[in-house]
Amino acid sequence: MSAGQRGGMVIRKFESQDLDKILALVRKMWPEAHYTSMEREYGVIGGRSWREWVAKDVGDFVAAHPENVFVTELDDQFAGFCSYLLDRGKMTGEIAYNAVEPGFQGRGVGARQMERIMSAFKEANMLYAKVPTGLNDAHAPARGMYEKLGFKKMAEFVIYGMKL
Ligand SMILES: CC(C)(COP(=O)(O)OP(=O)(O)OC[C@H]1O[C@@H](n2cnc3c(N)ncnc32)[C@H](O)[C@@H]1OP(=O)(O)O)[C@@H](O)C(=O)NCCC(=O)NCCS
Repeated sequence: MSAGQRGGMVIRKFESQDLDKILALVRKMWPEAHYTSMEREYGVIGGRSWREWVAKDVGDFVAAHPENVFVTELDDQFAGFCSYLLDRGKMTGEIAYNAVEPGFQGRGVGARQMERIMSAFKEANMLYAKVPTGLNDAHAPARGMYEKLGFKKMAEFVIYGMKL
């Protein structure tokens, strides 16, 4: 069994044919955030729904950092993806976009994805890790996952918006 494989679960580097599945997952179930609040307050912004903006942002991230994206397969099916950034100056790795297919949630996939990223941080000689996430109910599973991993809350944050 390879380092990325455990119990029918394989975590491997992103390949270009994974993009459609990643974006379909994002469109299906990305948690509500400030994008959603802006749309609720002001209507559709820039001709795309907030979900389409998130899909575009994720697509742009993957195009810019394909080497920083992992895909998880469980029993040969796409189960989720995760991504990260490295700040070598601050020796800090940042967990970026990550999600698990609804049908595979609650089975340890999210936690295993985070373990894989933590290994990537250590391989890159990072000394610290951080992750931004939401404080709303939709992000409760993500907060639970990060806290279980050992992350401590460093700051709370607000995004203000207005129409010009
Ligand atoms: C967050 C997410 C990736 C977790 O994936 P998952 O595969 O279901 O998570 P796991 O089964 O590995 O669970 C790991 C830990 O996360 C926490 N967790 C998972 N689901 C949870 C829930 N519904 N409520 C609270 N905590 C939860 C628990 O601490 C869990 O450990 P435990 O099972 O020992 O209690 C998944 O819910 C998801 O895709 N959410 C939408 C996308 C998202 O929010 N991404 C992060 C953006 S910052």
